[in-house]
Amino acid sequence: MHSSNTLPSILMIGCGHMGKAMLKSWLDHHLPPSVIVNRSTFSLPSPHRLVSSIDDIPADCNPDVIVLAIKPHQAKEVTPALKKWANKALFISVLAGKTLEGLGEQLGKDAAIMRVMPNTPVEIGKGMISAIANQHVTSQQRKIGESLLHTMGQVAWLDAEEQMDAAAAIAGSGPAYVFLLAELLQNAAEEQGLSHDLAKQLARQTVIGSAALLANTSKESSQLRQEIATPNGMTERALNVLMEKKAWPDAMSKAITAATKRSKEMAS
Ligand SMILES: NC(=O)c1ccc[n+]([C@@H]2O[C@H](COP(=O)([O-])OP(=O)(O)OC[C@H]3O[C@@H](n4cnc5c(N)ncnc54)[C@H](OP(=O)(O)O)[C@@H]3O)[C@@H](O)[C@H]2O)c1
Repeated sequence: MHSSNTLPSILMIGCGHMGKAMLKSWLDHHLPPSVIVNRSTFSLPSPHRLVSSIDDIPADCNPDVIVLAIKPHQAKEVTPALKKWANKALFISVLAGKTLEGLGEQLGKDAAIMRVMPNTPVEIGKGMISAIANQHVTSQQRKIGESLLHTMGQVAWLDAEEQMDAAAAIAGSGPAYVFLLAELLQNAAEEQGLSHDLAKQLARQTVIGSAALLANTSKESSQLRQEIATPNGMTERALNVLMEKKAWPDAMSKAITAATKRSKEMAS
């Protein structure tokens, strides 16, 4: 049984990119004996157990929390077998586009479900996790769920489930945009004649250092930007290109609109 100052035991269904990132964070915080279901194997420290199918979940498995980390379209394959825990465990779903109502229809109308949207920096405890719970989640279950979420980074409770699509487009997918920035900076450095290794070092450490500066200040990002851009200097020249309306402002707005739309489509 879960006590207030420890993590709950979990049964995790699906453990690919996101599942492994979350699991890493929970293992670092002394996860109690838990069961992970994933078709392909990987090393898992004892006493945790890895099984390859939901049919192989040990009979004595009695989780506080069931974490759904399969792909959204794979949910219907596993939810019938999970219904038996619906009145005992809290479900935490990371499935993009799967609504609380839709999951409730599959897991049972009284199932206590938290829908969360993490991002891959959860692996190192620096994630951004948006969350919303259905009305069946008790205050005790909410604390249990939060104990898992807080090991992974910052948690934002949403006011309405509709906000999840935009939250997913910004923070769930967001690390990919930042990695693209590092990639494009590196490519541009190589175009200027720098070697691959030097271009890679300059681009990566610039993204790393800038993120760390943001983490260390309450200043707006726009102010940090302005502090680098001396009038008529070289940074200002570059920013004039990037900040042209049709360049990054329009591209970012279109990209986030496209991702938000896709999130909505996946829910329908
Ligand atoms: N990746 C991200 O950054 C991110 C961010 C926010 C939310 N999410 C959400 O996280 C979820 C997982 O995404 P992901 O990128 O981690 O996907 P993924 O790498 O494909 O991981 C899913 C894993 O679950 C396994 N699996 C599926 N059904 C199974 C079953 N019935 N029995 C055993 N294993 C099963 C899959 O095996 P097979 O490959 O053999 O099917 C795969 O190893 C998605 O719903 C996504 O919306 C992801």
